[in-house]
Order: sequence, then structure tokens, then C-alpha cells
Amino acid sequence: MIQAIEMSINQLRFVGTGVFFLFIFLSGFWLSHSGKPYSSMIFNIHKLIALAAGIFLAITVSRIHQVAPLSPVEITAIAVTVLFFAGNAATGGLSSIDKPMPAAVLTMHHILPYLTVLSTAVTLYLLVNRK
Ligand code: HEM
Repeated sequence: MIQAIEMSINQLRFVGTGVFFLFIFLSGFWLSHSGKPYSSMIFNIHKLIALAAGIFLAITVSRIHQVAPLSPVEITAIAVTVLFFAGNAATGGLSSIDKPMPAAVLTMHHILPYLTVLSTAVTLYLLVNRK
């Protein structure tokens, strides 16, 4: 019974994270298509969903950590994912300001999101399949 509940909570964690990423990507593509100067409404939607996803994942990690301490591999995976999130926030924030920016910044914000999804998926997989 407890195992079944644990399984469905873990499924919810994956589904919840997937839904967050879906909306981050949809709002991101919407923002790209609407072009500069960015609509502050779409920009805020995009940022807030990304922030909410970060909070959701932080709560997920802290709940899992309460059950049993994290292993070094899990901590490394979490650290990499946090760095990718921070990289998205930094490159997204820099792309949005009015000053001229190297094209590489925007290119990075077009690539990092996919690495973030991959890293988040691996991290969640490690965390929910603990021995
Ligand atoms: C986990 C966090 C985030 C993810 C996964 C993400 C993902 C994306 C994606 C997939 C796009 C569309 C890129 C494309 O057209 O290929 C995008 C666009 C954009 N994002 Fe983010 N984003 C994140 C956080 C942020 C944050 C925190 C900011 C601002 C502070 C931001 C600012 C922007 C801007 C300005 C664009 C438009 C770029 C353009 O003109 O092509 N993003 N984002």
C-alpha cells in the first residue's frame, strides 16, 4: 500500500515537472516568435513558470532528502541541474536587456533548455529509483 502511494507520488513528480517544462518551452517559443522588444506579459509568464518549476523541484528534492540523505552521485546530479537552471536564468536575463549582447548569449539560451530537461530527468530518475 505504502509502496503504491510512493509510486504514484513519484509519477506525479515526473508528470508535474514535465508539465512545467512544457509551459516553459511553449512560453519561450512564444517569446522568441513575438521578437524584440519582448512583450513584458509573455516575458513575465516565461520567467514565473521557470521560477515555479525551480521551487517545485527544490521542494521535491528536499522531501526526498528527508526520507534518506542524498548520495554523492545524487548531489552531483542536483548541482549540475541547479547550474543549468542558473545558466538559463543568466542567459535569458541577459538576452532580454536592451544593451547589445554577444550572439552567443542568445544561442546558449536556445541550447541550455534542452540540457536542463535532460539533466532534470536524469536527476529525478536517480532520486526516485533510490535503493
Ligand atoms: C529553466 C528555465 C528556462 C528554460 C528551460 C527556458 C527555455 C526557453 C526556450 C525553450 C526558449 C525558446 C528558444 C527558442 O526559440 O529556441 C526561451 C526563450 C527565451 N527565454 Fe527562456 N527559459 C528559461 C528561463 C528563462 C529566464 C529565467 C529568463 C529571463 C530572465 C528567460 C528569458 C528568455 C527570453 C528573453 C527568450 C527569448 C529568446 C529569443 O528571442 O529567442 N528564460 N526560453
